Amino acid sequence: MPTATLHIPVLLKETLDAMTILPGGRYIDCTLGAGGHAEAILQRSAPGGQLLGIDADPTAIALAQESLSSFGNSALLVNGNFAELSQICSRHDFKPVNGILFDLGLSSMQLSQNGSGFSFQHDAPLDMRFDPNQTISAADIVNQYSEAELARILFEFGEETHSRQIARLIVRSRPLYSTAQLASLIESVVPKHSRIHPATKTFQALRIAVNEELQHLESALGQALELLGHGGKLVVISYHSLEDRIVKNFMRRESARCLCPPGLPQCVCQHQPRLKLLSKQVVVPSLAEEKANPRSRSAKLRVAERIISSQEWPEAARLFHVSAGRKSVTARKSSKKRTCFNTVLNLN
Ligand SMILES: C[S@@+](CC[C@H](N)C(=O)[O-])C[C@H]1O[C@@H](n2cnc3c(N)ncnc32)[C@H](O)[C@@H]1O
Repeated sequence: MPTATLHIPVLLKETLDAMTILPGGRYIDCTLGAGGHAEAILQRSAPGGQLLGIDADPTAIALAQESLSSFGNSALLVNGNFAELSQICSRHDFKPVNGILFDLGLSSMQLSQNGSGFSFQHDAPLDMRFDPNQTISAADIVNQYSEAELARILFEFGEETHSRQIARLIVRSRPLYSTAQLASLIESVVPKHSRIHPATKTFQALRIAVNEELQHLESALGQALELLGHGGKLVVISYHSLEDRIVKNFMRRESARCLCPPGLPQCVCQHQPRLKLLSKQVVVPSLAEEKANPRSRSAKLRVAERIISSQEWPEAARLFHVSAGRKSVTARKSSKKRTCFNTVLNLN
């Protein structure tokens, strides 16, 4: 693969700092990609650190398998969707954990891969699936959905103000099979006002719809909470406002002391915060990073810390005993392992 297509990890130092990586800790990278963040996490968590890396794209897994081979059994790589995070972790007995990372969207390799159909820069079939086994592709949406449904997708997932005109033209011009066909169609209705290509929002919207990105993110964030031990960090890097809004609202809701509607004389919801916000402001790339890696320009990092309240404690303690029990032989052999479990639940 040419160097130009290799993915440069975004906000790398900021991510590692936010995750407060500890030697011997256990971490999950839900969006492994080329393994850039994962490699740095493994380096910082040595000795004894473990990383579970997940990616929906089997090509990314193969690439990361190569780049992380020197870490041996410390890196466990799984081809799967982070919407199935709990199941994946149960299957591999990988909980509780000290930190979970989501670096959302797609990698530079996917964007530049001929044939993936993610970009209008290369002519390719309208595909856009992270996982090639997934049934619905961008061509299915473009050629089979109703005009109203297409307009909704373009408006909701692309914030495209010309959604209706584009949807009408798509329906009139069907069948459409290639990225170049779709891009030139859009160019004919969307005026070119800025440096951004007129097809950018439509391509983003289709990719989000094909991969059900927003639903999967919502679902995975909830699952991540169940996997983090006390003090564990949840770090999410997003690249557009729709993802960031989901992350922001999730973190706000889970860190709130009360979710009652305003105006009630006293709290009746008994909501228990499960997260503590660690940064009020989002973390964004420095000018130097933006210059060195223009793809980082829209990145926003949010971080929160898991807190396990007394009400949740019996469940957390059960989780600890189950994990510690199963690992007891190893734990006796290795004091490092014991430190890891203790750190996860902050029992030291
Ligand atoms: C921005 S890249 C991650 C790059 C990585 N942090 C690195 O340093 O190389 C995002 C990755 O997440 C994967 N991905 C996106 N949505 C996913 C999902 N729902 N489940 C699993 N992987 C997903 C994509 O296939 C892509 O490889």
